[in-house]
Amino acid sequence: MRDGEIERAVAVLRAGGLVAFPTETVYGLGADASNAAAVRKIFVVKGRPATHPLIVHLADAVQLANWAREVPEAARRLTRKFWPGPLTVILKRAPGVSDVVTGGQDTVALRVPSHPLALQLLARFGGGIAAPSANRHGRVSATTAEHVRSEFGAAVDCVLDGGDTQIGIESTIIDCSGAGAALLRPGWITRRDIEAALGAALAAPPADAPRVPGTLAAHYAPRTPLALVEGERAAELAREHARQGRRVAVLALSARRPPLEGLEWIAAPRDAAGYAHALYASLRRLDDSGCDTILVEQPPRSPEWAAINDRLARAAAGTSAPDET
Ligand code: TXA
Ligand code: MG
Repeated sequence: MRDGEIERAVAVLRAGGLVAFPTETVYGLGADASNAAAVRKIFVVKGRPATHPLIVHLADAVQLANWAREVPEAARRLTRKFWPGPLTVILKRAPGVSDVVTGGQDTVALRVPSHPLALQLLARFGGGIAAPSANRHGRVSATTAEHVRSEFGAAVDCVLDGGDTQIGIESTIIDCSGAGAALLRPGWITRRDIEAALGAALAAPPADAPRVPGTLAAHYAPRTPLALVEGERAAELAREHARQGRRVAVLALSARRPPLEGLEWIAAPRDAAGYAHALYASLRRLDDSGCDTILVEQPPRSPEWAAINDRLARAAAGTSAPDET
């Protein structure tokens, strides 16, 4: 299936070009991880600071040995259980892994995604593909090929279209490079899932934990100011704003739409999986609606919503601190 497209994408990677591809989480913007000049293009196109390291995507766990100089027991357990899948592990890098990929750190982020197109691409390419999420730095990740094209246009040489991504938010990141495994970024695989697989509690991230842009307060943000509000407050605030002649857009969960003209209103799926799947596309739609403010109804605070709440809090912080985007 789609052999021609995969072959073309592989040729682009071999020539040092950029290929956007679907993963089960979000789209990635990929380059040959062993070609420093190619990887540098990712930073230019994304507008990403050179110190922010990338994830190297691999076809299978066997390739770990080419990229990591040691694979501790915790990493073995996690990768056995969750790969291919939405888990990234941070390990001590093998000699020869480029500073461009790791942001000059002694560690490297590695992941085997489960999307069939990503796996086909990785298998045919044979090497590691360095890929951050396919969005401009600090902005909402892309969950469709259309998002990628509208964000980057001709700056990306090839976009593999795999439809909309299944999970919709970025992978869980676990740092296994230190004494105890630590959660750096929550994702669809929850803290509880990780601790069950480890048979041990996660450690607190080390004080000198590498900088992770996905953990900056201001990240994953639309351009329009976004506020998180509790329950029915969303509808009340929408009315108040409308009275003051301001246009609002609402991502609602339980709130009922008030009968206001011109109100952009999305009723989000009530289950965490459905919500995560639709989240970034919804934020993009609300952002593009030309409104003055986006109101997001606060989801439940239970563990299965942790990654969603993490991204929403950053989106709200991001829009009030534009200098960090
Ligand atoms: O689901 C995902 O993880 C997606 C898909 C495309 O795989 N990728 C993604 O990449 O979200 P990106 O670059 O947007 O986020 C990767 C995160 C960044 O926050 C980066 O700082 C962190 O991984 N990271 C990469 N290398 C690291 C390292 N050596 N130590 C600590 N964090 C690292
Ligand atoms: Mg990102």
